[in-house]
Amino acid sequence: MSEDSNMKKSPEMEEYEQETGKLAIWKGKVSNDFKKWQNRKQKDEIKKQKLEMLSISREERKQLKEDIKHGRDIGKDYAHLIVAENLHKTYLLGTTAVAALRGVDLTIDKRDFIDIMGPSGSGKTTLLNLIGGLDTPTRGKIFLEGKNISMLNDNDLADIRKESIGFVFQFYNLLPQMTAQENVMVPLHFSGKLSRRGKRKKALDLLRLVELEERAHHTPSELSGGEQQRVAIARAFANDPAIVILDEPTGDLDSKTGVMILNLLRDLNRRGATFIAVSHDAAVSEFATRVFHMRDGKLTHEGKVGGLKETAVMELKRKQEAEINKEKCKGMIFRYLFANQGKTEINVNDIKTSVPTPIIMNLPEHFDDILRELLKENNINGKVEGDLLILQ
Ligand SMILES: Nc1ncnc2c1ncn2[C@@H]1O[C@H](COP(=O)(O)OP(=O)(O)OP(=O)(O)O)[C@@H](O)[C@H]1O
Ligand SMILES: [Mg+2]
Repeated sequence: MSEDSNMKKSPEMEEYEQETGKLAIWKGKVSNDFKKWQNRKQKDEIKKQKLEMLSISREERKQLKEDIKHGRDIGKDYAHLIVAENLHKTYLLGTTAVAALRGVDLTIDKRDFIDIMGPSGSGKTTLLNLIGGLDTPTRGKIFLEGKNISMLNDNDLADIRKESIGFVFQFYNLLPQMTAQENVMVPLHFSGKLSRRGKRKKALDLLRLVELEERAHHTPSELSGGEQQRVAIARAFANDPAIVILDEPTGDLDSKTGVMILNLLRDLNRRGATFIAVSHDAAVSEFATRVFHMRDGKLTHEGKVGGLKETAVMELKRKQEAEINKEKCKGMIFRYLFANQGKTEINVNDIKTSVPTPIIMNLPEHFDDILRELLKENNINGKVEGDLLILQ
């Protein structure tokens, strides 16, 4: 076969021939003139796109500034914790423009646990960065507790992050030379609201929340991946944020440890925390209250993977697992009490450490209540007071 018959003319080549009256393919080869013409055309197109984009966002920003100046844009949407309207984010890299977000609308309410799933490069991290005030949109608006944060300067955004947002990343991002407790204290130093003693106490309280109080003085290298992520979660809650943002929170963990982290998040969510997570991990969506899918910079449908039926089955399975854990937990408490007969006071945390963490993390009720139930069922005369079990 000759080269000639292989070479098909593209629509672009036809356009070139019409425009210039020259041939795009000459003697089986693409002509150099055509290549130059094509190059110039691509550059012009990019320039046009850039100008268009900048002029739209310039216009919108001007309008927005006017609105804010005249109070037209403030105090809107107080009903929702976060409202994102028509968010666009385009990155300019030299001569190319990457449209990472292409019109995202989203509302987040208090106590939501949102999971956004989507393939690599679909814009998930970009969206989180905008919601978390790490970056500003090219177009569109974001309201956090009624305040428009899409136009703020770097300093004001830093204040928003400090006061209202907690972050958890895939690789924990703990400071290696600091202990778990000191890592949790870092955001407290910046807020400057507490005394040194107050900060230490608050950090310990937060570590207790993620069941890691006893590891407070360990450095990250002495902790497992799951434990480091729990420290990162405790740190994210340091300033009582309105929302905690999680980018691939289970991305670096094996599936069992991942589920442990998700159980912890679900527990915190049930106690009032608001989360937005993005992930490749389908397990995250099983724990979330709302699930979105992201593709090519747009949010597609909302829903749970696998539909309601599967979710109901999974929920049932989880409940059964939690009930089984409760029975195992009781057995272990009983063994501990048996081995410590004669004592009149026992620290509840000591009993708790005799139960493996995966069981503790997935119980249907609070550990103290299970302990009380066991005392009652076995006619053991004792009561739980604070951290102590007092036996008569
Ligand atoms: N700072 C940046 N400069 C230029 N392009 C960027 C920048 N950040 C992201 N992008 C591009 O924007 C698009 C969306 O990226 P983003 O990181 O939001 O995707 P993602 O869904 O989080 O992907 P992954 O699942 O791999 O983390 C990608 O094409 C990416 O290359
Ligand atoms: Mg990402």
